[in-house]
Amino acid sequence: MTDQSNPVKFPDKFLWGSATSSFQIEGATEADGRGESIWDRFCSQPGAINDNTDGKVACDHYHRHKEDVALLSSLGLQAYRFSIAWPRVLPNGKGAVNTKGLDFYDRLVDELLAADIAPFATLYHWDLPQALEDKNGWVNRDTAYTFVDYTHVVLKRLGDRVASWATLNEPFVSASHGYLTGEHAPGRKSLPDACAAAHHLLLAHGLAMPVVREFAPDADAGIVLNFTPAFTHSDDPKDQQECADIDGFENRWYVEPIAGAGYPVDTVESLGWEQKEIQAGDLEKISTPIDFLGVNYYTRQTVCAGEKDVKKTLPLTDMQWEIYPQGIREILTTLHNRHAFKKYFITENGAAMPDTSVDADEFVDDQDRIDYLHDHLQQVAQAMQDGVPVEGYFAWSLFDNFEWAHGYAKRFGIVRVNYETLTRTPKASALWYREVANTSIVGREHTPT
Ligand code: FCB
Repeated sequence: MTDQSNPVKFPDKFLWGSATSSFQIEGATEADGRGESIWDRFCSQPGAINDNTDGKVACDHYHRHKEDVALLSSLGLQAYRFSIAWPRVLPNGKGAVNTKGLDFYDRLVDELLAADIAPFATLYHWDLPQALEDKNGWVNRDTAYTFVDYTHVVLKRLGDRVASWATLNEPFVSASHGYLTGEHAPGRKSLPDACAAAHHLLLAHGLAMPVVREFAPDADAGIVLNFTPAFTHSDDPKDQQECADIDGFENRWYVEPIAGAGYPVDTVESLGWEQKEIQAGDLEKISTPIDFLGVNYYTRQTVCAGEKDVKKTLPLTDMQWEIYPQGIREILTTLHNRHAFKKYFITENGAAMPDTSVDADEFVDDQDRIDYLHDHLQQVAQAMQDGVPVEGYFAWSLFDNFEWAHGYAKRFGIVRVNYETLTRTPKASALWYREVANTSIVGREHTPT
């Protein structure tokens, strides 16, 4: 067992990276022929975004990508996870290709490679072209086939240079927040629609995998899922059942079909999903073997008397999420014991913190974020000692950015973004993380230079 207070050495070939997504950082939503996404439309609805902001400028990464790659390089990071905006490539979702949109990602990938940073691309991080939502979005099975055409276009252009491809980011959130609770775009609220969307998202993943393999035979291909363990302090069987149901709906619903185990039967029953959307051969396609599983982990959720999140006993981040570092080890070991995927990357982990200590030079001394990253990485090391093949870690996020329904109010960056001047300033956590990336040693000590 690793002593929590001692520095831990990761293997030399462990990849240290940071992650972002297109809509959260790019801005330039009308530049160079980009089409409308469901997030552009959603942001225009009064009250949809807590601070009434939108993605029109965001971090302006579209225009500042050179500077941003130089920043990644100055932090010594070896990998960068980003996503490709479908509406930049195919403004109507399908049909005519917008070459200028593809050119942007081409330049980004080349700049990363020139800086010796491995590009980790995600094909879909929630910004569906609005034109496809107008045809019923992910509730429509055709969207899965259209995703395959989009994958084709992107892979033909970038498949020779990207190290790692993820089809989807967190299909649970797309289906649940987008189609059930309505807190995310497209803002719909229907359980049957959410179930259909979840199935079509997974189908899109399964159908796209062979296309990724065909055009990028040397790259890794996989998917990124989020895991939020459900936990209860109570012995009441009702609460225990609630935990199992939440775990089934949020976690097992996605990983089990991918691992070839089908949808969790208990959850299908408790939701009353009729499974009308499943056609012959779908589950085989969804379980196409993956090279890696991307794991996003932030927090746990606590269940009590049937209510979610009522008993928060641990310190909280600015998202009011409990800080529960051992959860990352628990999910990694559980996943590996159950499904034995070939390898894992932590594709997102990080914390929104209030960042109250901004000085005149815009420097933020975010010791709380360093503690969060440190404590989670120590747990990742323990999972690796338990035998889980984890090959890299991506801090969420490189920048403060557009945090979906929260707008810009929640800051997850290891680099501060001043939204008036758009200047980027590495926080103490970025300097600490640079040491980690340089040495592969995770300790609390931080040497600012
Ligand atoms: C994840 C998302 C990512 C970011 C973090 C905080 O669910 O994938 O875009 O919003 O949460």
